[in-house]
Amino acid sequence: MFPGVTAGYTYEDCSATADWLLAQTAVRPLVGIVCGSGLGGLADMLKDQVAFNYKDIPNFPQSTVHGHAGRLVFGMLKGRPCVCMQGRFHLYEGYPVQKVTLPMRVFKLLGVETVILTNAAGGLNQDYKVGDIMIMKDHLNMPGFAGNNPLVGPNDERFGVRFPCMSDAYDRELQQLAADLGQELGYRDFLREGVYCVLGGPSFETIAECRMLSKLGADAVGMSTVHEVIVARHCGMRVFGLSLITNLSVMDYDSAEKANHEEVLQTGKQRAEQLERLVSTMVTKIEHNNNFA
Ligand code: HPA
Repeated sequence: MFPGVTAGYTYEDCSATADWLLAQTAVRPLVGIVCGSGLGGLADMLKDQVAFNYKDIPNFPQSTVHGHAGRLVFGMLKGRPCVCMQGRFHLYEGYPVQKVTLPMRVFKLLGVETVILTNAAGGLNQDYKVGDIMIMKDHLNMPGFAGNNPLVGPNDERFGVRFPCMSDAYDRELQQLAADLGQELGYRDFLREGVYCVLGGPSFETIAECRMLSKLGADAVGMSTVHEVIVARHCGMRVFGLSLITNLSVMDYDSAEKANHEEVLQTGKQRAEQLERLVSTMVTKIEHNNNFA
């Protein structure tokens, strides 16, 4: 065994989970969606649902966070077969990063080709407002700098290569599609694009940390998504990400603002419908031979 390797899942573990799911639903999803904090409404839009509680799915961890339902939902989103995680796993829940990202490999083995990830994030960019929706164009993987990358450990070539490229992690065609649809939907005033920085959490950032992250080029900060993106890209799925800016990061010692989870959930509720509309419209336009409708 490799030193320091934590609870990873083998290819066979992931296949067993995927096969268990495929045996219980006729839906063959090409798109996998991950709903962030307060954004689980997307899963409710699926028609002809077949839903599984995480606790019933072999190998799946449990979602412990308020605002994350903890269900995997299969169904049709505007006529397209999808699978939706209503709630995700985070490092701060105590899960090793390989558990946090297990669902991406299960998605791949279910036949998913495109992954759409959403999250709630704090806005570092001074031009951002609460309620902005940010198209993720890149990321900063802070836990990764410290060695906590989900691909650490033995590499199974059946998933992907040892050293995967990340300069093309966020699919540019999907970013353009989102920008175009955002214009059509009238989202011009609140649709942004930027760099998302992941931290371990669960404490929110200090003022000095926010200033540092902003200087490093991050536009938004959160506690999720990047690990999933890395694993999804490693196994060859296309990736698209959206951050809902639920609060503005405190950058100033005179500010009385304080980040809190209730605010995050509240903003999620207000903008969630618009974010869901953007995602569901995108899903109808994604063709899986790499062309758009
Ligand atoms: N920081 C980290 N994660 C977050 C924030 C934040 O300000 N808002 C929502 N998720």
